[in-house]
Amino acid sequence: MVECRAMPPSTFLRALRREPVPHTPIWIMRQAGRYLPEYRKVRDRVTFLELCKTPELACQVTVEAQAALGVDAAILFADILLILEPMGMGLTFEKGEGPVLANPLRDASRVDGFRNVDPREHLGYVLDAVKLIRRALPADVPLIGFSGAPFTLASYMIEGGSSKTFVETKAFMYREPAAWHRLCAKLADNVGRYLVAQVEAGAQALQLFDSWVGHLSPSDYREYVLPHTQAVFRALPPGVPTIHFGVGTSTLMELMSEAGGDVIGVDYHQELDQAWARLPGKGVQGNLDPAALFAGRGFIEQRVKRILAQAGGRPGHVFNLGHGILPGTPVDGAKAVVELVHELSAR
Ligand code: CP3
Repeated sequence: MVECRAMPPSTFLRALRREPVPHTPIWIMRQAGRYLPEYRKVRDRVTFLELCKTPELACQVTVEAQAALGVDAAILFADILLILEPMGMGLTFEKGEGPVLANPLRDASRVDGFRNVDPREHLGYVLDAVKLIRRALPADVPLIGFSGAPFTLASYMIEGGSSKTFVETKAFMYREPAAWHRLCAKLADNVGRYLVAQVEAGAQALQLFDSWVGHLSPSDYREYVLPHTQAVFRALPPGVPTIHFGVGTSTLMELMSEAGGDVIGVDYHQELDQAWARLPGKGVQGNLDPAALFAGRGFIEQRVKRILAQAGGRPGHVFNLGHGILPGTPVDGAKAVVELVHELSAR
């Protein structure tokens, strides 16, 4: 399924295709989040998982965030970890602790026991949210669907939650390479079908989050990750633009590009122009440090100017933060970056 041709041309979708645009489009990773009063109001009534599983509420926070900020795209409100629940992992979000996966995977013999997901049957609430959001958004604001990538999802299954060292994940990968590859192949298959279902429900672009893959060396990336991420991108419908994102990935730019994605996410540890020089034929997304939004409009303006100068008006730049917006971010800072990108990039 390809983008509906009747839609007005969107700066965001055109930038993803490296076509010229009247201004640089911007959206913000985690734009519907705790920094936003509209979001906190909904979260006062329901837990995070209830919010994800109630399509009307997921639609409401998605659409409110896009409208509050004036960004050029909306991202589906959901979480990368939701797919792990129907595969067979217990999932909860504990206050202050983040996600908790019950009974983490440490034993290679369990890999073949994880179920294959039927997105319509097991993640129907996500697809219903996509349909509602697509109807509720202004026609010229595209909707981004997303999933976690095999490595990052496997890391949550094996660590049982967030990690600083990823030692359990790496130990599993190094000690049980055959089981690791079976696990990641299964994740790639399920993620691919989940993303196709999001497109069929109305998502017009896709972002694959491999948030923690920057913890690997380039040779480990090539051996343990690249074939599986490549399988995800190969499963996606042609014509739907894709973004491939990770953090701490400055040594992995070429390999992530080889794995797939029309546009590669550039994190805030890198200079945008230096990263782009290593990505022939690709667009880039990024890369303002999320902390800059705490530093006032004058500082944000300097940094926006620097990033736009590094992009140099070349087609294929989508402005974003270099990672998700932080809880406690002043809403004025988030609004300022959107206004400044639109003003300062107008051609
Ligand atoms: O960007 C958006 O607005 C869309 C929604 C979205 C969320 N999570 C909502 C969320 C998206 C795209 C994600 C992706 C996600 N989830 C990633 C990849 C992005 C990245 O940051 O690299 C990861 C690693 C996760 C897993 C996850 N979910 C963690 C580690 C946490 C806890 C973090 C924290 O700050 O508490 C979550 C919870 C989560 N997902 C929240 C939101 C708005 C906060 C939950 C709350 O309301 O308390």
